[in-house]
Amino acid sequence: MSTFDLKSFLEAQQARVEALLHARSARLEPSGTPSMLAEAMRYSLMAGGKRLRPVLCLSFADAIAQQSTALRAAEDAACALEYIHTYSLVHDDLPSMDNDDLRRGRPTSHKVYGEAMAILAGDALLTEAFGLLASGPEPVRVALCRELAMASGSSGMVGGQVLDIAEDRPAQMDYLTRMHGKKTGALVRAACRMGVLAAGGSAEDLRRADSYGEAVGLAFQIADDILDVTGDAKLMGKPVGADAAAGRYTFPAVIGLEASWVLAERMVADAVAAVEPIEGPGGPLSVLARYMVERNS
Ligand code: IPE
Ligand code: IPE
Ligand code: MG
Ligand code: MG
Ligand code: MG
Repeated sequence: MSTFDLKSFLEAQQARVEALLHARSARLEPSGTPSMLAEAMRYSLMAGGKRLRPVLCLSFADAIAQQSTALRAAEDAACALEYIHTYSLVHDDLPSMDNDDLRRGRPTSHKVYGEAMAILAGDALLTEAFGLLASGPEPVRVALCRELAMASGSSGMVGGQVLDIAEDRPAQMDYLTRMHGKKTGALVRAACRMGVLAAGGSAEDLRRADSYGEAVGLAFQIADDILDVTGDAKLMGKPVGADAAAGRYTFPAVIGLEASWVLAERMVADAVAAVEPIEGPGGPLSVLARYMVERNS
């Protein structure tokens, strides 16, 4: 695929995700959510993130699905992933965590609604994610809930956030990869696996999604760390230099910029190799893997 193809593919997929999120978040007030809470939830949810996790989930489902009944489960999974991701960002930005003022090009939730409402909007997004995922015909729903819970809970994303702020963290490569594998890798990997599960893929498809997700998750986080050093805050919609200011252990800080690039490239190659048997050479998933490290926001 050429760069032009990637751009139009991503834009179409992002528009698809926006529409899905819009439809689901419009149900909040009719189902009894207080309007000020619904407003805070939508403020962060509809702020125009890159939607990478839902796009990965839908792209795997599209690559594998034989029957259209799989679509609804994949769409709910895509939205649930973005609800969880958005809640993690709202809480990550809180004064007691990273204390950031800008996210997705807007003032952070606590800056607009206050800390208590930001915490509650995050709580509600987290809980609603599982409500969405559990509302539909079995057999896949329980498996999808389990996958998302494992990836986002204490042994996944939340565990990774704790390793990131631990006082006694060593500046070592194995700690860094373990931390990032949980902090961001687990949810990216789950996005890929959930696409396969929703579409009723085989054990072999699931294994391939797992390898791809693991490699792409690491490549994504290396790029996030590199962008914090070399990126443009305007394009990214969040501050740069925040990691160094907070004394965070990032890939550039621990192994240097050059070695970080080399590692990211190796991860992209691994990811591409994992999905070629599913989609052939140069398919959407290969192109998305490359985008993870070439993005500027
Ligand atoms: C940013 O995630 C935070 C990390 C998990 C590293 P994204 O770069 O996917 O953020 P959005 O969703 O596009 O805002
Ligand atoms: C955030 O990591 C990861 C999660 C929210 C799980 P960072 O703190 O590095 O993300 P940014 O750089 O603020 O987006
Ligand atoms: Mg953080
Ligand atoms: Mg942060
Ligand atoms: Mg970061």
